[in-house]
Amino acid sequence: MLDLIRTRRSVRSFVGTEVGDEMVEKVLEAGRWAPSGMNNQPWRFAVIRDRDLKDRVGRLTRYRRIVHAADTLIAVFLDTTAGYHRTKDIQAMGACIQNMLLAIHGLGLGGVWLGEILKSGGELRALLDAPDHYELMAVIALGYPAEKSVQQPERKDLASLVFFRK
Ligand SMILES: Cc1cc2nc3c(=O)[nH]c(=O)nc-3n(C[C@H](O)[C@H](O)[C@H](O)COP(=O)(O)O)c2cc1C
Repeated sequence: MLDLIRTRRSVRSFVGTEVGDEMVEKVLEAGRWAPSGMNNQPWRFAVIRDRDLKDRVGRLTRYRRIVHAADTLIAVFLDTTAGYHRTKDIQAMGACIQNMLLAIHGLGLGGVWLGEILKSGGELRALLDAPDHYELMAVIALGYPAEKSVQQPERKDLASLVFFRK
């Protein structure tokens, strides 16, 4: 697990190989098993694999190239009617999204968390016929990674992050 956490990278380029339905299901399962406050499980998922629909989603973000190249998009929504505490609900959504990113990596796929598209949350909701009380939290773009597609961003030293130990 520690190795998976350490080696996961955002993947933004993909080869054309199709991702099997069973793989997508495993990724969704990983999201489903995330922790949530009072176990309220406020996440809702839209799986987008249709080429034309992906094109339309691509128009909603400056990351159109990534959206086009990805085999599958998972739009992750917070069902605000299932929420009970704004901060905790959003934390649960983060756990859910990270679970899926780790599953993607563990399955030998690549994926990236797209947040910039949140500016077009209303448009995406309309495109997917999602109810008004679904609030877009992220779109995960995933597929088989293209070779050499992965950047290696640095992390801050632990010493600069831990401000208290006793
Ligand atoms: C909340 C959030 C929003 C993000 N939005 C985008 C995005 O819109 N486009 C993108 O290419 N990457 C996005 N990322 C990915 C980050 O750029 C990436 O995680 C960071 O640079 C560290 O790289 P790593 O994931 O390879 O470790 C987002 C990540 C998070 C957690």
